[in-house]
Amino acid sequence: MGRRTAEPYKIKSVETLSMLSYEERKESLKRAGYNTFLIDSEDVYIDLLTDSGTTAMSDEQWGALMTGDEAYAGSKSWKKLEKAVQEFYGYQFVLPTHQGRGAENILSQLKIKDGDYVPGNMYFTTTRAHQEMNGAKFVDIIIDEAHNPTIDHPFKGNIDLTKLQKLIDEVGAEKIPYVCLAVTVNLAGGQPVSMRNMKEVYELCQTYQIDVFFDATRCVENAFFIKEREEGYAEKPIAHILKEMLSYSDGCTMSGKKDCLVNIGGFLAMNDEELYIRSRELVVVYEGMPSYGGMAGRDMEAMAIGIREAVDDHYIEHRIGQVRHLGDQLIEAGVPIVLPIGGHAVFLDAKSFLPHLKQDEFPAQALAAALYLDSGVRSMERGIISAGRNIETGENNRPELELVRLTIPRRVYTNNHMDVVVDSIVDLFKKRDEIGGLKMDYEPPTLRFFNARFSPLATSNELISEQNKKVSIE
Ligand code: F0G
Repeated sequence: MGRRTAEPYKIKSVETLSMLSYEERKESLKRAGYNTFLIDSEDVYIDLLTDSGTTAMSDEQWGALMTGDEAYAGSKSWKKLEKAVQEFYGYQFVLPTHQGRGAENILSQLKIKDGDYVPGNMYFTTTRAHQEMNGAKFVDIIIDEAHNPTIDHPFKGNIDLTKLQKLIDEVGAEKIPYVCLAVTVNLAGGQPVSMRNMKEVYELCQTYQIDVFFDATRCVENAFFIKEREEGYAEKPIAHILKEMLSYSDGCTMSGKKDCLVNIGGFLAMNDEELYIRSRELVVVYEGMPSYGGMAGRDMEAMAIGIREAVDDHYIEHRIGQVRHLGDQLIEAGVPIVLPIGGHAVFLDAKSFLPHLKQDEFPAQALAAALYLDSGVRSMERGIISAGRNIETGENNRPELELVRLTIPRRVYTNNHMDVVVDSIVDLFKKRDEIGGLKMDYEPPTLRFFNARFSPLATSNELISEQNKKVSIE
């Protein structure tokens, strides 16, 4: 056995976890309409719903909160944040937003005209919603491998340049306001994009004068994969790789709640001054003054520090290592997960886990519910429910990937917590035949996964009891 490593931090403050009984979890699940988004957080033992805004801040960040400049205009905390983005991300112009989707809203409104096409490497829910609300059609141009959970590919988030070229030929460059390139593609399983692919996409777009905007949300994780897997980067510091990545774009939207190591905040950055001036107008309308954009001065202090802490090579190595600590054990136990293991989460392949359920019986939603019932571990559906309906036909989108996401908050849990999660999933896998499907009782019109309610199908209203016997959860 090689030498083991440990967390590159020690714990200064703790938060007690609630540990409900099986019966209490059953009640809680029922109250939540079998939707893990609707479970009260105080009813959750290990919360792997999301890595968004769930980060543990460092003592330095907590200390900086007291120094936040809460002036309505010209806050010095904003100056620090602006400088950190310019230094570590390399863009000239930066605008603060309350979180990532605030930046998506402004970019989409300014760039998209009715009837446009926005190509991207797999959709993200809020990003696509803003594109569509502004009249664009989203076109998925990720490589085919990304849609197959069993293919092990080092850069499964890559854009297929042939698909991009085909779209340009078909609709014309003037109908493509920008290419939206997401790094460490969330819904593909946290899969990275190679430096080479970023460069090639940027070069192709430049020949047609199409802008490239990154969704930089998990950019540091992507930089780690480049360091590990792409020739020529093994010896380069993460900060250096990050800056090179972002140099192959005209700007980015950013959810600071992930790789900026904070609980709230985001930004929109770019190099085009004219776009910056127009964006600044919309920041005032939707977010607040361009010197706070929906954040408190203290939030901006914390984010400026988080941006720097995130590019620490020891931090990011441990971060990805913890995700692998979870994923590798599941692979060993034969549990089907998306390969290779991604940056922020392990994704269970619910289609293979529950082959007896049809996609219309919501296998990923049912598996997420069963996992909560079994151990109080909260995960998230990323399958047919999240994919929503086709805006033209109203039919359900039917993604190839029907996944349950186990998303690891940054610096929050230990590897022992990961082991508890493994044990629960492995137990469920042994009794998978007994897990029944769900039906949707309430469907919200947009982003339905947040508020939809379900109940067990009348014909198979059973999940598994703690005592390994069938119990009805009608
Ligand atoms: N882009 C990506 C790739 C995301 O994962 C998210 C959020 C956003 C944009 C929007 O950012 O939440 O700050 O407005 N993802 C969270 C998640 C919600 O759980 O994956 P936001």
